[in-house]
Amino acid sequence: MTIGVCYFPEHWPRDRWETDADQMVEAGIEYVRMAEFSWAVLEPRRGEFDFEWLDEAVEILGQRGLKVVLCTPTATPPKWLVDERPEILQAEPDGTPRGFGSRRHYCFNSPAYRAETERVVSRMVDRYADDPRVVGWQIDNEFGCHGTVRCYCDDCAAAFREWLRDRYDDVDELNRRWGTTFWSQRYGGFEAVEPPRPTPSDHHPSHLLEYYRFASESVVEYSRLQARLVREANAEWFVAHNFMGDFGTLDAHAVSDDLDLVAWDSYPTGFPQYRRPEEATPDELRAGDPDQVGVNHDLYRGTNGEPFWVMEQQPGDINWPPHAPQPAEGAMRLWAHHATAHGADAVLYFRWRRCLEGQEQYHAGLRKADGSPDRGYDDARRAAKEIQELPDLASVDAPVALLHGYENHWALSIQPHSPDFEYWSHARTYYRALRERGVQVDVVHPRADLDGYAAVVAPTLHLVDDALASHLRDYVEAGGELLLTIRSGVKDPWNKLRAEPAPGPLADLVGATVERHESLPDSIAPEVSYSDGSGGSGRSGRSDQTDRPGRPNRTAEPYPARTWAEWLAPGDATVVGTHESGVAAGRPAIVRNDVGSGSATHVGTWPEADLAAAVAGNLLDRAGVGCADRFPTGVRAAERDGFVWITNFTSDPVRISAPADAAWVVGDAAVGAFDVSVVEADLGSVSVDRSCRSTGTAGRRGENR
Ligand code: GAL
Ligand code: ZN
Repeated sequence: MTIGVCYFPEHWPRDRWETDADQMVEAGIEYVRMAEFSWAVLEPRRGEFDFEWLDEAVEILGQRGLKVVLCTPTATPPKWLVDERPEILQAEPDGTPRGFGSRRHYCFNSPAYRAETERVVSRMVDRYADDPRVVGWQIDNEFGCHGTVRCYCDDCAAAFREWLRDRYDDVDELNRRWGTTFWSQRYGGFEAVEPPRPTPSDHHPSHLLEYYRFASESVVEYSRLQARLVREANAEWFVAHNFMGDFGTLDAHAVSDDLDLVAWDSYPTGFPQYRRPEEATPDELRAGDPDQVGVNHDLYRGTNGEPFWVMEQQPGDINWPPHAPQPAEGAMRLWAHHATAHGADAVLYFRWRRCLEGQEQYHAGLRKADGSPDRGYDDARRAAKEIQELPDLASVDAPVALLHGYENHWALSIQPHSPDFEYWSHARTYYRALRERGVQVDVVHPRADLDGYAAVVAPTLHLVDDALASHLRDYVEAGGELLLTIRSGVKDPWNKLRAEPAPGPLADLVGATVERHESLPDSIAPEVSYSDGSGGSGRSGRSDQTDRPGRPNRTAEPYPARTWAEWLAPGDATVVGTHESGVAAGRPAIVRNDVGSGSATHVGTWPEADLAAAVAGNLLDRAGVGCADRFPTGVRAAERDGFVWITNFTSDPVRISAPADAAWVVGDAAVGAFDVSVVEADLGSVSVDRSCRSTGTAGRRGENR
């Protein structure tokens, strides 16, 4: 595990570069990423290449033992190219071009742009093919950022029609699969099908889902082109891409199939500002939500089973969220450790120095605008030293998988059926419940090999075909513990409702069906009683946020839930939870069904934290997963290769109980505000010493200190 930085030498005078490189070495930096967005500098006019500056930067860094990661510059086609070939521009649904003047303005399906990509990328990779200082490549930058996965230009319209022709026998099949009789939407031929243009009311959901698939596959194809060019030049190089957090429109699993190294860009204080606004706590605005960051680590770690990188790590205050609080003292160090605990092999801070020009002037770097160290520099240096002193770490060995398929996300975003139905937020409810017990989670594709996972959680498996249903059934029969949730098995792969009741092809496995569903605003939110096995009491203990005992039963106060309720009709399944409020009162809400040597649980509501904890606690118990007592909000434990990281994303210090002879390799049992400690111990032997933890509204008080 190591530290790196993103560096733009072309923004600074050459006589500064050696100083920069010396200071990088002093900070303990190993990797330097360069040449992103540099096309106009590399090729100021068609065919006139200037590599001299980049050669010199590579030379200066290389002399000091720094390793260089280069980027293809294709996220920013230069003005001369746009003027020459305006057809490379993306277009809005109404045909308005997404013009020059920022970035990501090119279309993935433009034949002209694919040719230009081939030209510039080949030139660059050939230049450095024999250079040992260049260790690998990042292709492009953040595919799809700024809403650019989906383009609506003429090239896309033509490519979409071709894509449909390949997919359907004839247009009658398309009409049948989509269901175009509704509102007279039948097509007479493929040539009549348009990208979804502006319409008076909602678009046809099957048309939209197919367009979303097509758009994502267009990016995958474009990415594959670049990966091939890099590999042809030097087969030893790694090919990487930097994905985004909580990002939905691009199938990162599919892109990753063509990569050697999956990476993502982590901006912890930005992400919480894009959830429901009232949800971002003062502590989260200072350091982020460890589970929101963590689920992305685990997604990108999971995509090809290899360790991942954080290609861009927030270095301080940032420019793009609505607000830009200074991160908490030490947060930039905390984030590097947190990433390491989740399996990262490298964390590269974005960027080296605050830029004097352009759109990102309000974005910090490790160094200030005048070149002097900013807070991030000291944090990065400390993190580098601590992390490099750890032994080589094996990758994370997660006992639980969380299934995530982009198509479910797309279908649910087309018909959310509630303003509050946000896909990631629902998935995080369960992820949080697992993570507060310290359990490592792989976020994997629903069709991934599930052997070896003691338990599997599958939030909103909305589109299900028979093959997926039997894949899950095989898993449970062989002894797996499966957790299914609301809105599962409702639709077929074309985004059409099934005639049989939900969960459709999963009904046998669940041993129950959904009689009715309702979406509910907070004012009439569901309440559910729940009792199954230990009910989540015992090791999971009680939440620090409520006074309610962890062990629920029908006579206790019911658990709060939100947004969605399903009235279940049990067949073979046992009812373990019941609706206690509204029109649903008295109807089954949660069921569990023994199948083969395992069992499947179906949760027919969106649980709040305590119910999710109780359900997850039982799942872990039945699956025999070793875990810790429930950690407080914002404090997380994660085990990697025999070491347990305690990361405190809150302003309240905590004291950790661990075996007396356990070796603390970073910090000690007193974990301060926004601090981290690492102990060599079993996860199950580590807990928060609650007698020492202060109570109350941690974030707010900390904020006033
Ligand atoms: C990322 C992007 C970088 C920079 C950064 C600012 O999304 O890849 O180029 O814009 O955000 O936080
Ligand atoms: Zn296009």
